Amino acid sequence: MIILGINAYHANASAAIVVDGRLVAAVEEERLNRVKYAAGLPVQAIRFCLDRAGAKISEVDHIAVPRDPTARLGTKLRFAMRMPRFALERLGVMRRFAGVRDDLASALGVAPQEIRAQIHRVEHHTAHMASAYFVSPFERAAVLSADGLGDFASAMWALGEGPRMRTLGEVTFPHSLGMYYTALTQYLGFWKFGDEYKVMGLAAYGEPEFLEEFRRIVRSDKRNAFRLGLKYFTHQSQGAEMTWRDAASTPVLGRLFSPYLEKRLGPARRAEEPLTKRHHILAASMQAALEEVLVAQWNSLAATTGEKNLCLAGGVAFNCLANGKIFAKSPFERVYVQPAAGDAGLSVGAAFAINHQVLGRPREFAMEHAYWGPDFSPSAVRSAVERANLDSNDLHVSSSVDAEPLVQRTARHIADGKIVGWFQGAVEWGPRALGNRSILADPRRAEMKEILNRRIKHREIFRPFAPSIAEEAAGEYFEQSHPSPFMTFAFPVRAEKRSVIPAPTHVDGTARLQTVSRSANPLYWQLLRAVGELTGVPVVLNTSFNDNEPIVCRPEEALECFRRTRMDVLVLGNYILERKSSELEREAPAGGIAKGAA
Ligand SMILES: [Fe+2]
Repeated sequence: MIILGINAYHANASAAIVVDGRLVAAVEEERLNRVKYAAGLPVQAIRFCLDRAGAKISEVDHIAVPRDPTARLGTKLRFAMRMPRFALERLGVMRRFAGVRDDLASALGVAPQEIRAQIHRVEHHTAHMASAYFVSPFERAAVLSADGLGDFASAMWALGEGPRMRTLGEVTFPHSLGMYYTALTQYLGFWKFGDEYKVMGLAAYGEPEFLEEFRRIVRSDKRNAFRLGLKYFTHQSQGAEMTWRDAASTPVLGRLFSPYLEKRLGPARRAEEPLTKRHHILAASMQAALEEVLVAQWNSLAATTGEKNLCLAGGVAFNCLANGKIFAKSPFERVYVQPAAGDAGLSVGAAFAINHQVLGRPREFAMEHAYWGPDFSPSAVRSAVERANLDSNDLHVSSSVDAEPLVQRTARHIADGKIVGWFQGAVEWGPRALGNRSILADPRRAEMKEILNRRIKHREIFRPFAPSIAEEAAGEYFEQSHPSPFMTFAFPVRAEKRSVIPAPTHVDGTARLQTVSRSANPLYWQLLRAVGELTGVPVVLNTSFNDNEPIVCRPEEALECFRRTRMDVLVLGNYILERKSSELEREAPAGGIAKGAA
């Protein structure tokens, strides 16, 4: 039984393939076509999934698409009558979905009749919830999805019991936590698709002094729901305009906040304007209001279901700050967030929704790691290194067939303060680098954040970097030892450890950690242990392997990023490439390691 899930004609296009109830492969199109947040039909991702499953498109039994044009049809029609431009755009989307078989056939170079799979439409939030619950380790759980908008809803919650999910409630357009967060992100001068992370990082710098006003912008409602103060927004009157041309372009979102919002909160920040204390307070207030709504939702869901397990999905589930804070006080004992909690994850969710809810198959899979994308053989890595035309005057290249010396040497480089590109195994599923396509550095050096930004990442200085920690040491460094294998929780670093790992500790004392288990990623876990043995601190600073581009996928992209940036070392499969003219001596101050660290 082969089920292909496709998130198409929508931001974060992706594909996933489920064979006999188990996930075999999943990847976002952006990793392959190198266009950030790529929309359109994810042809390369589909090809990869088929390839990995050893199947032809003609052998696929079911194709699941996470969009149901018939869902909430009445609401959609009423809105369309008020807003013809929006209706035309919707019609275009519906037409594209109707032609998915033909599009797929033409992209894969087969005749449409060769695709004998039944094509299923799965409602957007059902697919989100399925993407979390059906791959969670839980037999039963409360499930909550919240995002910008999908099939005219912005949130949905359910009770998951074995292979079934029973929907308990929903919030429909125009009320939306995702729209709220995006509108305020724009207001604060961040206009790029996916910029919400930046504002979440900014929130730590201020106190929520404007919370009273923000409670007018978003507030809890009875029945586990929430409402927006619609005067502050434009999407209900002008449509939630999101435009993209094809898989080769990054989506663009229109302005979502109204002049009334500016009247109440002051003029919007222009992108080039410096960030001031006022912006910090605004970001903190916006985050605090969101957290109030989420606390009420979590509590109400715990009370109505009586469950101790919670599964989260949708873009709001990426708010690791809220997840961490609310978890600490919530009645839930275990929370599962799938690594691709946003719209990319819909391909996995749609496929599993069909597997369980339509085909009635039992549950036999849990997603315990994120490594579902392409990987590369040692010979592919070797030929990439050979073809790369590296400057041998500046580089020392060596290789090791055994993992042990590779890990030991890498750990030594990290402990010595070098910036290390780490390329191993399969590409991560979801937006976070989780130890296979990562740039690693010593978390004990407070100046490392600034060095990384200057030499490689070129990010806003207020954005935090994240730590990876061997799972068994998490409780020693963090106030929570709940697993965070996919970097979806920010937990407070223990007060006595903040000076030990200053580089990834954010200004509010939290860090968005990745807990690494031996079973999920043996090599990365070994590296953390080796770093721990050398330094006494089994933690590395882990940031994604890229520089203003999608995270690298192929060895060639890693080599190119290494060549272009000022990384000291690249560990590429079995190869270690060391820059002879390391910049470390020139710029790291002597005694840069924080007091208290070994
Ligand atoms: Fe969504």
